[in-house]
Amino acid sequence: MDPMTNAADAAAGEPPLLAVAGTVIHTPELGVIEILEDAVVTVGEDGRIERVIEADDPAREATIEAAAAAGRLTLLRAGQYLLPGLVDLHVHAPQWPQIGKALHLPLEQWLANCTFPLEARYADLEFAARSYGGLVDTLLANGTTTALYFGSVHLGATQLLADLCHAKGQRALVGKVVMDDPTLCPDYYRDASATIAVAETEMFIEHVQRLAGPEGRVRPVITPRFIPACTNAALEELGRLARQTGLHVQTHCSESDWEHDFVRHRLGATDTRSLEAFGLLGRRTILAHSNFICDDDMDAIGGCGAGIGHCPLSNAYFSNAVFPLAQALEKKLHVGLGTDISGGPDASIFSACRHAIAASRMLADGVDARIAPDKRGRPGAAIDFAEAFWLATAGGGIALDLPIGVIAPGFAFDAMVIDTTVPDADLTLWPDLDEPEDVLQRIVYGAARANVRRVWVDGITVVDKDAGLDWS
Ligand code: GUN
Ligand code: FE
Repeated sequence: MDPMTNAADAAAGEPPLLAVAGTVIHTPELGVIEILEDAVVTVGEDGRIERVIEADDPAREATIEAAAAAGRLTLLRAGQYLLPGLVDLHVHAPQWPQIGKALHLPLEQWLANCTFPLEARYADLEFAARSYGGLVDTLLANGTTTALYFGSVHLGATQLLADLCHAKGQRALVGKVVMDDPTLCPDYYRDASATIAVAETEMFIEHVQRLAGPEGRVRPVITPRFIPACTNAALEELGRLARQTGLHVQTHCSESDWEHDFVRHRLGATDTRSLEAFGLLGRRTILAHSNFICDDDMDAIGGCGAGIGHCPLSNAYFSNAVFPLAQALEKKLHVGLGTDISGGPDASIFSACRHAIAASRMLADGVDARIAPDKRGRPGAAIDFAEAFWLATAGGGIALDLPIGVIAPGFAFDAMVIDTTVPDADLTLWPDLDEPEDVLQRIVYGAARANVRRVWVDGITVVDKDAGLDWS
């Protein structure tokens, strides 16, 4: 049969929810860059990508015409690129007012002196509304289509955070923080008991599932802050809840010398093995940091397919060490990137890519010039820009067990337009000097908020900085 007839037939049917015509750049596999020049991506009513039609496909023209006739076509201009949206695997929403502050103390003092007093303010829902609205807007404007959020200990404020993500259209996984151990948590900022902490977690789950449905764009997450902040009773009950519901779990794991040693002294095992024993390590668990994990921990994490949220910038302030990223990737562990706002003072996952690359190179070469070069570093520890972008997109999606981060049929259309031509930004292409893959390299190293022009989640426009401009 004539392929042109097929294409015309397809175009004559229902037009897609939307079609985006332009050059697609993504990293469908670790280290693999795919550039599809002049492609057309069509999205169905369910927000999933239906087809990625390449430039030489005879269906391309008819699809563009049908989408244009239905008023559903977005046509990218020269210098604009369609990329998957960014995935942030670790954000402390209540720490947003503290971003760019209070980075002078070690983790345990920072928590006690700066962070717990700030998070305690979220008992006030007005304060929470003021803070959370700005945070979600900022992350979306930076191209973060999916965020995994720690809320605060408060049920009401964390419900409000979920409501705001839902209203603003961000894909969000949100947890009411559990922290009930009076040894570490102050009287003014603590769950009153393990029983109350778990009951409020259950109420939070119900709230979010009522809001967005059980498999919705906003999902509840079981969130023990970290082992030092939780009693064994709370950890056991949350483990039971995780097994019973199959929901996501998030916590901090082996972050710093202090934290890693604290858990080994208290429980006689590493964070990873302890979480496993509590029933908190599974396919939908995301472990923030994990800098001090040993080979045995990696086996446990890999064995159940849990994910790691690598937070390279915050690690520079609080962790005393660099996460062995390349080793984790070699072992096929599920890894993505996190900003760790406000331990990491930067809201952009593009920045997290840059910091992940730099940290990995410092680990590879070592940092102390007084040590001989052959003893200074860990050879093989470096990653490159393409691997970093994969972590920021597809890697984050795999870690969360969600179909996001790749521009291919069946994946959610969570995507953004990067415009390399905006005047008030530093990203510059040199077409006469650049290979096609250099475009992604320049974007990873140079993209700023101003370059993110349009953002979709599930095919719905959630940011459009050029609304009203006619690009056709
Ligand atoms: N460990 C426990 N709580 C926190 C937190 O808020 N930030 C970081 N970076 N580590 C933690
Ligand atoms: Fe954190």
